[in-house]
Amino acid sequence: MESIVVLKDVTKVINGRTIIDHISFEVNKGEVFGFLGPNGAGKTTTIRMVVGLMGLTSGDITIGGASIKTNFEDAVQHVGAIVENPEMYKFLSGYQNLVHFARMTKGITKEKIDETVKLVGLSDRIHDKVKTYSLGMRQRLGLAQCLLHDPNVLILDEPTNGLDPAGIREIRDYIRLLAREKDMAVIVSSHILSEMEMMCDRIGIIQNGRLVDVQRVQEFVHSKTSSFEFEVIPADTAITLLQKTYPKAAITHSRDGLTVEIAKEEIPNLVKSFVDEGIQVFGIKEVSKTLEDRFLEVTAVKGADNHA
Ligand SMILES: Nc1ncnc2c1ncn2[C@@H]1O[C@H](COP(=O)(O)OP(=O)(O)OP(=O)(O)O)[C@@H](O)[C@H]1O
Ligand SMILES: [Mg+2]
Repeated sequence: MESIVVLKDVTKVINGRTIIDHISFEVNKGEVFGFLGPNGAGKTTTIRMVVGLMGLTSGDITIGGASIKTNFEDAVQHVGAIVENPEMYKFLSGYQNLVHFARMTKGITKEKIDETVKLVGLSDRIHDKVKTYSLGMRQRLGLAQCLLHDPNVLILDEPTNGLDPAGIREIRDYIRLLAREKDMAVIVSSHILSEMEMMCDRIGIIQNGRLVDVQRVQEFVHSKTSSFEFEVIPADTAITLLQKTYPKAAITHSRDGLTVEIAKEEIPNLVKSFVDEGIQVFGIKEVSKTLEDRFLEVTAVKGADNHA
């Protein structure tokens, strides 16, 4: 795997407040990297630094080996980004907007514009005025604009913001396609976990300006012993028995039953013990952890550490 974007100890202090605190990570070619965190965590600020819209207080960022601090032009020349709402002329057509943008950048041909329009699925409406576009169409036009110069790094801050489910899915499929077919490195930010789960290869969780965890999406979802929910009566006796048998396991009692974090192999023995104790078993269900559960776990535990 070849890393193309490298952040090393990136730190930003504004008015004496540390907004970004020694963030380091690398993004590889052909990979979609998700930057996940709650409002105010520092996603946009980090992205602004990566694309050169804001200076670093300390640390460094290199893109394709070129430092954003000492070799800015080389670093950003292969980056396409949508950070704030892309500037569009509303009284011009989408096509005129792209032509206008192409004039400011060397080497963009008419063929390239046409190809890109097709790629983002705007062919039908590209000659209509931008003011008649829906939000999703504007997003796609923005995407077209930042793809015109064939970047090999694509950076999108909350790309699915404001889109309907169909629009979200399209953007998601499209982002995956760019990574897979064009070997692009893509960085996307979001605070919506389920979306990131479907879109990204790896996810970095940012909280209070710190990167608290980076994991492959697959590991993220499966990296815990599973939990099983038992519908049993009487619950009190069952809890006592569980505590005695698995003194270390987390046990929670809800309206639906008892949830215990144990390995699947334990179930036959446990059911036998229940029956031996005269406890009636009405149901057993595996409770899989969602990314959301994991996200909350990670931020709760590591967040607590941070404040220790
Ligand atoms: N120019 C600035 N001056 C002072 N504080 C700033 C500035 N830019 C960002 N901040 C602060 O930095 C923190 C991180 O903000 P940032 O916009 O990066 O968060 P975010 O993760 O993108 O949040 P959201 O999900 O709401 O977009 C916030 O506390 C914000 O108030
Ligand atoms: Mg933001």
